[in-house]
Amino acid sequence: MTAAGAFAPPEVAISVEGLSKKFGDRLVVDNLTMSVRRGQIYGFLGPNGSGKTTTIRMLCGLLTPDAGHGTCLGLDIRTQSREIRKHVGYMTQKFSLYTDLSVRENLEFVARLYGVPRPEDAAQQALVRLGLEGRGRQLAGELSGGWKQRLALGACILPAPQLLLLDEPTAGVDPQARREFWAQIHDLAAEGLTVLVSTHYMDEAERCHEIAYIAYGHLLARGTVAEVVAGSGLVTYVVDVARDGRDPGAVIAALSKALSGNPAVKMVAPFGISLHVSGHDADALEAAIAPFRAQEGLSWRRETATLEDVFIDLMMRSQDMLR
Ligand SMILES: Nc1ncnc2c1ncn2[C@@H]1O[C@H](COP(=O)(O)OP(=O)(O)O)[C@@H](O)[C@H]1O
Ligand SMILES: [Mg+2]
Repeated sequence: MTAAGAFAPPEVAISVEGLSKKFGDRLVVDNLTMSVRRGQIYGFLGPNGSGKTTTIRMLCGLLTPDAGHGTCLGLDIRTQSREIRKHVGYMTQKFSLYTDLSVRENLEFVARLYGVPRPEDAAQQALVRLGLEGRGRQLAGELSGGWKQRLALGACILPAPQLLLLDEPTAGVDPQARREFWAQIHDLAAEGLTVLVSTHYMDEAERCHEIAYIAYGHLLARGTVAEVVAGSGLVTYVVDVARDGRDPGAVIAALSKALSGNPAVKMVAPFGISLHVSGHDADALEAAIAPFRAQEGLSWRRETATLEDVFIDLMMRSQDMLR
């Protein structure tokens, strides 16, 4: 075990209150309060430019908040950032390893940088753990997106951190590589590592123990996926279009147009030959769709809103709020 590994982490990995950050006169994180338990996989979701990266940087002490306070791994984010960084693995949005060094050389370099004892052995162990043995001599720059992510993760966990901050780690990575990446994340969390991960992918959000949705600097919802969906109060109907010879796309487009003008309908979204129709007032929504219930070739059913429905709704409502 390294010196970092010997550090006894508290049960609450992150606990911050009222964090705010301005760039110039733009408030990009507004009064953010959150806590993350040890061993949790905590997902950060929200549109681009919402302050996810800024928040991640404040949590590990790379950026000082203008207001607010809190702890990361029991250490003060304002005054103990240097100590915090010893126990945090931070994977930035950009690949930040040396493209002209081999996979093994990159890992050894990181091990030396962090003062990991016996860097060659540590690099070898990381290669095995990540299934990269066969690629030790390959230049990092020649790896595919998925393997690059795997290497970056390997480099992150080499110094035995207690907390992983992963900023959109799987952007542009194919589905199979994403799946393997997430299997690794779950293994690491099961060993007690806490993981904070930002992502745009709904399937990844569903793999988190808890999520927070941030839009334009505001934390709008948090909890388990089920809690966030239930808390949205969103009522969703799904209507399937029969394959009866008519052009289903045209049927969907016409229906979508007819419904979206109704104030009870907050959202219509086509999914293949189905349409999701959502609103907040169940009775008003029911009344809005009533005229189309009897239309031939359409079958309606009420469903639990999807996480995507909920996020889009949250984003639209926050835009309205800020207007
Ligand atoms: N160092 C900086 N200086 C000025 N503006 C910044 C800086 N970093 C981020 N921003 C701005 O702050 C907002 C939030 O950015 P960011 O935290 O990167 O959002 P996200 O990660 O959710 O996409 C954006 O509008 C971005 O342009
Ligand atoms: Mg970002």
